[in-house]
Amino acid sequence: MERLLSVAHEVIGRCHALAEFTEEPGHITRTFLSPPMRGVHAQVRQWMEAAGMSVRVDAAGNIRGVYAGQTSARLLIGSHLDTVPHAGAFDGILGVILGITLVESLGGRRLPFQIEVIGFSEEEGVKFGVPFIGSRAVIGDLDPALIERISPAIADFGLDPAQLAEARLDSDALGYLEFHIEQGPVLENLDCAVAVVEAIAGQSRFEIAFRGDANHAATPMLSRRDALAAAAEWISAVEREALAAEGLLATVGSIEVEPGAANVIAGVARASLDVRHGDDAIRAAAAGRLLGCAQTIAARRGVTVASKRHLDRPAVRMDAALVSPLERAVARAGHPVHRMTSGAGHDAMILAPIVPAAMLFVRSPGGVSHHPAETVLPEDVTAALQAGMSFLEELEARHA
Ligand code: GLV
Ligand code: MN
Ligand code: MN
Repeated sequence: MERLLSVAHEVIGRCHALAEFTEEPGHITRTFLSPPMRGVHAQVRQWMEAAGMSVRVDAAGNIRGVYAGQTSARLLIGSHLDTVPHAGAFDGILGVILGITLVESLGGRRLPFQIEVIGFSEEEGVKFGVPFIGSRAVIGDLDPALIERISPAIADFGLDPAQLAEARLDSDALGYLEFHIEQGPVLENLDCAVAVVEAIAGQSRFEIAFRGDANHAATPMLSRRDALAAAAEWISAVEREALAAEGLLATVGSIEVEPGAANVIAGVARASLDVRHGDDAIRAAAAGRLLGCAQTIAARRGVTVASKRHLDRPAVRMDAALVSPLERAVARAGHPVHRMTSGAGHDAMILAPIVPAAMLFVRSPGGVSHHPAETVLPEDVTAALQAGMSFLEELEARHA
């Protein structure tokens, strides 16, 4: 136990070490294939190779370490290495480091299956407004229009977009396991270290552009076509709508204004919209109402509005064939077994339709995430490690 706690401290230290690779000094910001991702890859490669893995970076920028096993069957363990702007050190990163640490814990022992640890290049959707680019490449789900958009970033990083097809899973994957911080207050309120995820809520994301007329701030109030005022009215309506519907989450998290000066009426206001619900029909209906509301507000104000959908992912269930052993592993590790639905999106929701998937959440102190104050407790990381090791043992016995 003492020893595991010190391993947990090392896991946390490694997350902090990767946080040093950032696009903005003083903050943790690392978007898809941005220059600091090179430093992350160099460090992760070193840890993976020291743990006995053979390492490659695929054309989508995912770093992948394979630890050989006795057969060609392969267990995938992964999460993402990109971040939101001004992020914390653990969202995504913790899952990759825990994967490497579990391989280290084998001390060279071979299992009846290989383990591939994947650090996905892009999950957050910050650079192109489209999330999950890394995991979508791994399941061969990147459409030609998206490939065209992301190819320059891939080439700038020194990778070859023509090789994207080789990012696809090439082996007989028996499952995908993702460790991730909870990013909410549920485990803290229950005083639980970890939880087994049973489902991940669906998500829709849109870009909504209001267009009016840019003009001098001296223009009389009744003669204006103010794109930003229209967006502001709509943002309040989005919040009201979400408050009125049980379980609905709707977020306008970013807005860009043109031309963007104190003495110029905004001609364009381009906002993001993220809509989530555990029930896909409720999410789709809510998204429709929110877009309709933008039309109504725009028409009344004499501005136009256009929307583009960047994401429409259904809710997914984790696979019972992996969820049950994970629950048993948590119980054997001496922790209460709590099941929950994830409101946040994860690479597991992309892998799940192709590979049996399971996730273990680690308590987020204060429920804080997507924020520099995001943290984890060493005792909780110990619980995740114990459960992970025990999970591997059960899979080993099953496949022996
Ligand atoms: C991932 O962080 C998400 O936005 O759900
Ligand atoms: Mn995130
Ligand atoms: Mn994440």
